[in-house]
Amino acid sequence: MIYAKIKGTGSYLPSRVVTNADLEKIVDTNDAWIVDRTGIQQRHVISEEETTASMAHIAASRAINAAGIQPNDIDLIVVGTATPDRFFPSTAAILQHRLGITNHCPAFDIAGACSGFIYALSIADQFIRTGAVKTALVLGAECLTRLVDWTDRTTCVLFGDGAAGVILQADHQPGILGTHLHTDGQYEPLLYAPNQLRQQTANENLAEALEPPFIKMKGREVFKIAVNTLNQIVDETLAANHLSKSDIDWLIPHQANLRIIQASAKKLALPMERVVLTVQHHGNTSAASIPLALDIAVRDGRIQPGQLLLMEAFGAGFTWGSALVRY
Ligand code: ACO
Repeated sequence: MIYAKIKGTGSYLPSRVVTNADLEKIVDTNDAWIVDRTGIQQRHVISEEETTASMAHIAASRAINAAGIQPNDIDLIVVGTATPDRFFPSTAAILQHRLGITNHCPAFDIAGACSGFIYALSIADQFIRTGAVKTALVLGAECLTRLVDWTDRTTCVLFGDGAAGVILQADHQPGILGTHLHTDGQYEPLLYAPNQLRQQTANENLAEALEPPFIKMKGREVFKIAVNTLNQIVDETLAANHLSKSDIDWLIPHQANLRIIQASAKKLALPMERVVLTVQHHGNTSAASIPLALDIAVRDGRIQPGQLLLMEAFGAGFTWGSALVRY
């Protein structure tokens, strides 16, 4: 039996930190509201010179070093991102070149919003299990603050930027035990970011006001569905793998809101000490949030070889998914 095993992790956060106090100066909000409703205290925000690909490049280099491989050992690159540098080429293709990979390996992006990393991980897992590739670079990389209206207090306090990922390699020892992916497209109106290009080509009258390209979210509705859906995927994942709640060593959830994460931990009867939390420092970094949390907990020694990790994500689409990983 071939498994995809995590051999190295890496991450990158932009150096600029925006605190809740900084946001109080630009919108009608306050630290107490943000911390109480979301758990977020600060977020990292990309500089003008940086892009999703430049952040991904640093995160990928760190994962490659941690795995002790050479860039040309990689034979698949999958990047989960909703904020690519360009419509094309893909962030993964740009990254392949910047990493100096010359072996013509397939490289592509996956748009799964906040579930993007789990989608990318699942795809790479299938490639490895079938024997099609031996070594894969899987990343989540996002600059959602570039899609934020900084005058809209209901969204601008939530998001942050970053990139992170893993090197997966084929192994006979258990690694990724299973992944579960879902989408329900009917919920587009609750959470989306408009594409002005589509509007320009669809409208004959180009003078018509364009919808600005900022994130639109009906937060309260998204919150309720996220909690219910994540509870369902926990049940689905445990049942499919014939495991019980007590088998899970670490929950590594998408980091959108502390209250959503607490609900998942409660569902698993897991103390919060067994949940990797970064939302307070990073905000919601979309597809980057799970690999960021993973990398931090691997590097600080919390996550140890042989432990069982449950990753879960929920995002625009709605998309949701999980990965059960023997580290
Ligand atoms: N500061 C102060 N007050 C605010 C702020 C703010 N930043 N934002 C909203 N408020 C006000 C609202 O205007 C409202 O006031 P009103 O009662 O007078 O109308 C009040 O606070 C309550 O607003 P709610 O939206 O009901 O607040 P809620 O407790 O639901 O928290 C939040 C909002 C944080 C957005 C929450 O709903 C949430 O986290 N939703 C889920 C987000 C998520 O998981 N998204 C999925 C991933 S994102 C992706 O895929 C790109």
